Amino acid sequence: MAPCLAARPRRVKLSPVLLGRQRELRAIDEGLAAARLGKSSRLVIHGEPGIGKTALLEYAAQQAGSMRLLAARGVEFEADVPFAGLSELLQPALGLLDRLPSFHATALRSSLGLGPRIEADRLIVDAAVLGLISLYAEESPLLITVDDAQWLDRASAEAIGFAARRLVADPVLVLIAVREGEDSPLLAAGLPDLMLGGLDQEAAAELLASSGGGQVSAEVTRRLVAATGGNPLALLELGPEAQRMASAPHENLP
Ligand SMILES: Nc1ncnc2c1ncn2[C@@H]1O[C@H](COP(=O)(O)OP(=O)(O)OP(=O)(O)O)[C@@H](O)[C@H]1O
Ligand SMILES: [Mg+2]
Repeated sequence: MAPCLAARPRRVKLSPVLLGRQRELRAIDEGLAAARLGKSSRLVIHGEPGIGKTALLEYAAQQAGSMRLLAARGVEFEADVPFAGLSELLQPALGLLDRLPSFHATALRSSLGLGPRIEADRLIVDAAVLGLISLYAEESPLLITVDDAQWLDRASAEAIGFAARRLVADPVLVLIAVREGEDSPLLAAGLPDLMLGGLDQEAAAELLASSGGGQVSAEVTRRLVAATGGNPLALLELGPEAQRMASAPHENLP
């Protein structure tokens, strides 16, 4: 675990290649392939800060090619604003609102702040979200990504969980990323999940070498992996130091 990474500003740029994630990339590729064949799947990816959750969602978006994309990211600032996350997620699909049953459209417009305020049961709003996503996926397979779900407002998280559980015969892949140790209704939605661990020695060595530190000895790599738990962000931040550390006395190494 690398808790200190949570508050750090991002100074490293995205690595173009995701190292040591064959299993995860295969799961995403299979989910995308299934969506293209008209079959839905869903996956909650969780892990500590910097472990590579966003990187996997970005990989999925890249691989999605001509598929449609609905994407949202939880932000702490809006965590208390009901339906803030959904309003971001559903933006590209709002043109289809008129094709929903009118009571669904009215309820969803109200929740998203796009129409007069009405009292609507959660079930009606959630069913409207499900209906809108299904409509949006009718013309083309769809990838849904929800990043930093721990900061989604509760109403959005519940509606996304509701839809993710019920999109069965739809050409949709739903990927949700949640930080380990944080709470989200999506963790209790009974969706398949994937715990993202640290990189192994081999992938870490490759990452260190590609991050500007040059080739790093097996011993230094081992110590860095032990110190960081194989966290890619921590390794990237330590990478440039790695060469210097290699020539330092061992007692100075982590
Ligand atoms: N498998 C990998 N190979 C190479 N680089 C990686 C890999 N996984 C992550 N990275 C890089 O590590 C950094 C942190 O990854 P990322 O932002 O995806 O972490 P995160 O899990 O989303 O963290 P947070 O919880 O803070 O959002 C990024 O620069 C990313 O490109
Ligand atoms: Mg992230």
